[in-house]
Amino acid sequence: MKIVVTGGAGYIGTHTCIVLLEQGHEVVIVDNLCNSKPVAVERVRELSGKDVAFYEKDVCDGEAMREIFRKEKPDAVIHFAGLKAVGESVEQPLRYYENNLGSTLTLVRVMEEFGVKNIVFSSSATVYGDVENPPLREDAALPNHAACPYGTTKLMIEQILKDYAVAHEDFNAVLLRYFNPVGAHESGRIGEDPAGIPNNLAPYIMQTVVGKRDKLHVFGNDYPTPDGTCIRDYIHVVDLAEGHAAAVKLFEKDGCGLRIYNLGTGKGYSVMEVLKAFSEAAGQEIPYVIDGRRDGDLPESYADCSKAKEELGWVAKKSLQDMCVDSLRWQRQNPDGFGE
Ligand code: NAD
Ligand code: UFG
Repeated sequence: MKIVVTGGAGYIGTHTCIVLLEQGHEVVIVDNLCNSKPVAVERVRELSGKDVAFYEKDVCDGEAMREIFRKEKPDAVIHFAGLKAVGESVEQPLRYYENNLGSTLTLVRVMEEFGVKNIVFSSSATVYGDVENPPLREDAALPNHAACPYGTTKLMIEQILKDYAVAHEDFNAVLLRYFNPVGAHESGRIGEDPAGIPNNLAPYIMQTVVGKRDKLHVFGNDYPTPDGTCIRDYIHVVDLAEGHAAAVKLFEKDGCGLRIYNLGTGKGYSVMEVLKAFSEAAGQEIPYVIDGRRDGDLPESYADCSKAKEELGWVAKKSLQDMCVDSLRWQRQNPDGFGE
């Protein structure tokens, strides 16, 4: 299939492009580089040994998207493009709603105009909120809004795609709810390259290992969990990428309609367990300090992954140790990420 990958220069996008290319798909990346660098696209070409079309365009720009669809005639779209920083979304809600909802509305409109009926959308475990206890299943009741505007954009986009699918019987949309992506391609050539001080646990630990940060701040050790720190379902980014390729296979059969799948491992690890795993992989102690709780953090989140296994034939294969080893290889080979 020929697949337009919006946000394909980003962390999950680059890893997914590699897997799609390995499986014989053609990939067209559309990214405005607001949170990524052109060298990431170069590395996708290098690792795959394939030519990959790249358009530095904003998905909110309808005319630019029409031009791309006219020229490329894609069969499907994977929509990664979006802003994703939880704290920033609290400070700049309009920017998040404009970018995340605006890009999706424009994209679906252009898909309709060009008769493209297949989309995979990057949703998040954040849509579950705190309504139900883990393991979280896809049919769980969802809250009206998430813990932050970023999360609420995911809930709203899911609803938009659900409503659109009701109105268009031949529309196929696969909503993938990612748990916590960690790790990097085993080559060490692509990986997560957060701008500024990392918000997320694994990038912060990695930067502490290479000496860019003094110590990890553990946000709370008084949660109702065995060691008092929060539990999350960390999933290797390459497993996640393979989940997208499995979702795209649904488009090759007859129409799949609207589907929702969790992409996680089904197993939760605490902050202290993740820190220990990184220490072992790095072969060094990683300094840390216990701080207060961070607003909006839930004690525990992990997936029930049985639906993706049954319907997509997909399961996460890589361990927490793989995630640590691969992340560290990327971080050590590229201490400044993709550079300036
Ligand atoms: P990322 O920031 O590395 O990648 C997103 C890419 O989209 C970036 O390259 C950015 O430049 C691009 N982009 C943003 N807005 C755009 C626009 N309007 N037009 C064109 N390009 C645009 O993030 P990621 O971690 O790879 O996440 C990919 C998707 O997965 C996002 O939608 C994110 O919300 C979602 N997600 C990520 C996580 C996570 O923890 N990484 C968890 C759940 C869901
Ligand atoms: N944590 C620390 N110190 C840090 C960073 C994180 O102790 O410096 C802790 C957090 O308190 C939390 C755990 O590590 O307990 C994981 O935090 P992350 O920020 O890595 O991940 P979250 O689970 O908070 O958030 C992730 C994505 C969001 C998404 C959410 C959905 O980053 O985009 O999952 O559950 F919305």
